[in-house]
Amino acid sequence: MNEWWREAVFYQVYVRSFADSNGDGIGDIPGITSRLGYLEELGVDAIWLTPFYASPQADHGYDVADYVDVDPQFGTLADFDDLVAAAHERGIRVIVDIVPNHSSSQHPWFTGPDREQRYVTVAGGDAPPNNWPSNWGGPAWTLDEDRGHWYLHLFAPEQPDLDWNKQLVRDDFETVLRFWLDRGVDGFRIDVAHGLVKKASLEDEPEPFPTDRFSSDWRTAIDQPEVHDVYRDWHRLADEYDGDRVLVGEVVFSDQQRVVPYLRPDELHLAFNFSLVFQPWEADKIRASIEESLRTLPIVTWVFENHDVTRIVTRFGGERQARAAALLLLALPGPVFVYQGQELGLEEVDLPDEVRQDPIFHRMKGERIGRDGCRVPIPWMRELQPNAWLPQPADWGEKSVEAQTGRGGSFLELYRRALELRPHGPFAWRRSPPDVLAFDRGDLTCIVNFGGEQFEVEGEVVLASDEDGTALWVERS
Ligand code: NOJ
Ligand code: CA
Repeated sequence: MNEWWREAVFYQVYVRSFADSNGDGIGDIPGITSRLGYLEELGVDAIWLTPFYASPQADHGYDVADYVDVDPQFGTLADFDDLVAAAHERGIRVIVDIVPNHSSSQHPWFTGPDREQRYVTVAGGDAPPNNWPSNWGGPAWTLDEDRGHWYLHLFAPEQPDLDWNKQLVRDDFETVLRFWLDRGVDGFRIDVAHGLVKKASLEDEPEPFPTDRFSSDWRTAIDQPEVHDVYRDWHRLADEYDGDRVLVGEVVFSDQQRVVPYLRPDELHLAFNFSLVFQPWEADKIRASIEESLRTLPIVTWVFENHDVTRIVTRFGGERQARAAALLLLALPGPVFVYQGQELGLEEVDLPDEVRQDPIFHRMKGERIGRDGCRVPIPWMRELQPNAWLPQPADWGEKSVEAQTGRGGSFLELYRRALELRPHGPFAWRRSPPDVLAFDRGDLTCIVNFGGEQFEVEGEVVLASDEDGTALWVERS
């Protein structure tokens, strides 16, 4: 078995914000195809495309109105086929996002007469059927007066939850998976993978429970035992195809133990490990998080950034930290996800309220700022794109791919070099001062200095994150 994903570097393409081929300010599929050379030179093994399916874009594509077609603003199915063929030619694999927990409220499954056969609905009543809150404020239920029922939405009302206790839903999604597997995709990133099946009784979440806010730690709405049958079916389905197609789950729990069952050998191959997303730039916290993940999970899929969280230049307090984090990330054992722009050292953009588009910002009336700040289109050229759907900061010209390419010491060149030298092989911690993380990975030792204490390992420094050597890769002699 090849299992290419075990050590792969995946690059997340947030389609809207990656590369715009027709100048309308919105990234698209031909744009991605035109930048494959960049990705090949960067040295990634695979790309993950966020949803590009037909969608009213209430949550930028995570509200799908047709699971088997491309939204016209992103291109066509023929464009998609071209992208997959061109990526494969360069040895880059392609995984796509599948959004099975909910569809768009514009999906014919929801607008048509058979809604009750596919969605979580409860007839009548003055009050919502139970105490479940929506992830983005307010109750998780909306009353459809015309139809005389409440429907469930763990996210926005435009994203009604499908009912995975119904066989029809399971059958429909097998058809969807086959559609994309037949087109040659190398796997799927599964949205809200822990959430699909709700407890059929729809009973209240037991108190005490923060009913004002969705929690990844609830018991009733999500993480039901039957969800594992879905992944066993999907695993079998993926196995019918050649090439080790991969299933990567977005499985979010603060307790890592709850992720473990999803990674049983006949279920998901990978599940994002978000524990580093929630750590500050402090040696003991980061060490503890890495240790716990490695101890608990059979395979750890490392993530610092994605389209839902604050970029690390901002979160970790500056470029110096983010550069050191790059060497840390790329030395850890197992698959790694890099979010577009992470390799350019982009910071979270502080956008004016008027341009913010994230439904979180609008539904929470600004109480939560939302995710637009990490979704600003990445800069390719010194000359920025005047009509980008979210405005690029003026100083991003110097952070553009054009400006950083070939510039000694640039963030991008550091990333390229790190991907080239990325170590493989056994992992072992080294004894080090409290402010220093040090571990061996294959022939290299990775040292990350959080404080400025002296720590040296004998050997040749093959890569340094900056002139002070905040993080180093040392080839042991
Ligand atoms: C997780 C996705 O990453 C996020 O962007 C989306 O809003 C929610 N799931 C709902 O689909
Ligand atoms: Ca475009």
